[in-house]
Amino acid sequence: MIINLFDLEKKFTKKLPKDIEGYYSSGARDEVTLKRNRSIFNEYELLPRLLRDVSKIDLKTTILGLKVDSPILIAPVAMQQMAHEEGESGTAKAAKNSNTIMTHSTISNRSIHEIGPLHDKLFFQLYFSKDRDFTSQMLQDCKALGYKAIVFTVDAPRLGTRERDERNSFKMPDNLRLGNFVGTKFENFDKMEEHSGSSMNLHSDNLFDPSLTFEVIPWIKEKSGLPVLVKGILRPDDATQALNYGADGIVISNHGGRQLDTAVPTLRQIEPIRNTVGYEPLIIVDGGIRRGTDILKCIALGADAVQIGRPLLWGLQYKGQKGVELVLEILKQELIETMILSGCKNLNEITRDLVVKV
Ligand SMILES: Cc1cc2nc3c(=O)[nH]c(=O)nc-3n(C[C@H](O)[C@H](O)[C@H](O)COP(=O)(O)O)c2cc1C
Repeated sequence: MIINLFDLEKKFTKKLPKDIEGYYSSGARDEVTLKRNRSIFNEYELLPRLLRDVSKIDLKTTILGLKVDSPILIAPVAMQQMAHEEGESGTAKAAKNSNTIMTHSTISNRSIHEIGPLHDKLFFQLYFSKDRDFTSQMLQDCKALGYKAIVFTVDAPRLGTRERDERNSFKMPDNLRLGNFVGTKFENFDKMEEHSGSSMNLHSDNLFDPSLTFEVIPWIKEKSGLPVLVKGILRPDDATQALNYGADGIVISNHGGRQLDTAVPTLRQIEPIRNTVGYEPLIIVDGGIRRGTDILKCIALGADAVQIGRPLLWGLQYKGQKGVELVLEILKQELIETMILSGCKNLNEITRDLVVKV
């Protein structure tokens, strides 16, 4: 029986081959941050308001001018066809049916040309290649294909080591492709040489430019002609810098614990970042969000919206598009329940006083 997201996670873990499950589920090194992203939610408790007429609940919000049915968005997650043949198209169609935003990863199996036409609320997640012409072309294509924003991931000047991938010599199955690289000089970059350990390191050497600084933000805005969100922010001063360089919002994230192990869990950083940047800027947060109560806590502490990473894979593996829709619906229903029981009719009523730090 499937009641919550963990029921789907259990099915997922049993069903997939060990190396693929390991790639999707693992965190960097000792996986301390991976675990802390979740355990920290128990360090914040709810202080509900009562007798507030909660007969009608409204989850709607607007993100960068896009009206969505709930503050639950879909994070960029690489290589989704390893979970289900539909891959990113199942996720995009689920996002459309659920009227929410999906961010499409650079390292996807299905290309922007395939996914772009499927939904009118798509963001594109950028891994900034050392080859600026390649990056520039991809950004221009995103605009032409109707993507609404660029999510610039900044917590990956190199790949964090996921030791499970090293032990399993993880490699994307040969029958799959990285859609955005087909027909480019990066087409075969994961097959270039014999190597031991995880193939992801080869991707990272080719794709990531460790010399980048905040100054590249205006370049991305100019080339894409789109709003830019900076993903991977954990510090208030970095949030301020990103906004000063023209970012249109930030995503508080530690990459689901996959980059710098022992980095702070994201929930803790929402309030200090919101207090520093002020009321106005868009703040999205991800990392370990699995329950309606988690979402309410993030919003109470200052986030405008949350996004989910691994749970979309659990849904996708279970039933493709329908499975992703199920994940979004479970979270929505849990959020509605949490709001009713906490005395909130709409997202504006989710205020800081509803959460107490243990
Ligand atoms: C298998 C996997 C692949 C990911 N691929 C990307 C990616 O391509 N680009 C990116 O910015 N973040 C990527 N992320 C990080 C997610 O966008 C997100 O920050 C994280 O998964 C949120 O935590 P959660 O999985 O606990 O919900 C990936 C995460 C996972 C689990």
